[in-house]
Order: sequence, then structure tokens, then C-alpha cells
Amino acid sequence: MAQRTKLVAGNWKMHGSLASNLSLLDAVKAGAAGMACEAAVCVPYPYLAQARSVLTGSNVGWGAQDVSAHSQGAYTGEVSAAMLADFGCRYAIVGHSERRTLHGESDQLVAEKFAAALGSGLTPILCVGETLAEREAGVTDSVVTRQLEAVLANSGVAALARAVVAYEPVWAIGTGRTATPQQAQDVHAAIRARVAKDDATVAAGLQVLYGGSVKAGNAKELFGMPDIDGGLIGGASLVAADFLAICAAA
Ligand code: 13P
Repeated sequence: MAQRTKLVAGNWKMHGSLASNLSLLDAVKAGAAGMACEAAVCVPYPYLAQARSVLTGSNVGWGAQDVSAHSQGAYTGEVSAAMLADFGCRYAIVGHSERRTLHGESDQLVAEKFAAALGSGLTPILCVGETLAEREAGVTDSVVTRQLEAVLANSGVAALARAVVAYEPVWAIGTGRTATPQQAQDVHAAIRARVAKDDATVAAGLQVLYGGSVKAGNAKELFGMPDIDGGLIGGASLVAADFLAICAAA
């Protein structure tokens, strides 16, 4: 089996201020030094400069929570992948369920954002996941596979060698209701199996993160599952001690 490094990425969502970020970033930078896992934070656009200034030279990566599918032009409010790369970002989250649901992002648009990020040298963190209704209807695997296949169709399986996938069941995000390690493992294994159908080597090396109410208390058990390669952390990434405890669990 391929050795995959664990990655713990924080998604701050729309939280923070220059003052509060500074102590958080400083603490994460100091705490992550020497840790065996990779760590990263995805911050709101206005705070990318602060993340760059604090984290450059550290072992904590940083990036954005979204990216435009377009390279440039009359797209008021959008930020292109080239701009993020120009600025030094490493990561861009694409297809977060909050974007899919609240902003109506389709599988196709997410696939285009993924391609744009990759094309500019960013590492896309592709989020996939089912709603509670979909889980209860027994269609979890088909929903996640459909979301993944939009990207495979648009970019090809080789693109996943330079990307990260995050399985985030919508019903577990911000709810305190975590998927059990086995529930998460089952979907992670299905994701890896779908990628392996196209390319076994890419599948074996692919980091598949779990996201949805990951806390210091449940991280170790989740990250102990064979196909869970770390986490995408929302609420707990806003508290340095919690985020670092999750990194330590990885
Ligand atoms: P929570 O960790 O707050 O549930 O959020 C998960 C998430 O959406 C990360 O992208």
C-alpha cells in the first residue's frame, strides 16, 4: 500500500479578523513545527496576505476557500486561480457543500473550478458528500461518485495525482454529528475504488480527507481508518489548541 502523508486542513469559512487571526496563525505555526502531518489553513480572501506573511517559511500551507472557473474578465467579485497562484497560495477548496447548496454550484462548475485551480498550479481540495436525505435514501455512493466523475470527465484521472479529495457528508458539517469511522471509511474506500478503476497508482497515492464535526476527541479514531488520510476542519480550526490536537492525532 502506498504511504500517504496525513493532511489536516483548516477551513475557516467566513470567520476571523486581523487581530484574532494573528494569534491563531502564530499558534498554529508554532505548534505545527515538527509535526509529522501536513497542515494547512484556507482563510477568507482578505486574510490571505496575513496568512502569507505569518506562514511563509513554516510547514503550514495556506490557501483559499473557493476560486473562479474563469481565467480573467468581467466576473465581478470573482478571484482567479492565476491570481491566487501569483499570490503564493498553495491550496484552493472547490465544491464545498456550502458553495454547492447556497450558491447553486453544479458538478460541472465545480469540475471547471478544479481544472482552473490545477491549471494554475494550485492544489485543489475537491469536496464531495451527500445530504442526509441522500444518505437515508441509500444513494450516498452514487452521489459521491457522480460528483467525482464530473471531475474525472473534465480533467482526467491523472489530474487527481496533484489534488486532494475531501469527503464531507453534509449532515455532519457544523452539526456536531460526525460520521462514524466506519461510515467514513466505507465512502473513502468507494472514492478510492472509483479512482482505481481509472488508475490504480493515482488511487493509491490520493489523499482523501474526512470533514464534518472533526474534533480533538474523535480525530484519532477517524484518522486510524485505512482510507482516511486526514481531515478538513471547520469549527475546530478556529481554536489553535483544538486544531493542533487534531494535527497531533494525525
Ligand atoms: P465543521 O468541522 O465545522 O463541521 O466543518 C466541516 C467543514 O465544512 C470543513 O470544510
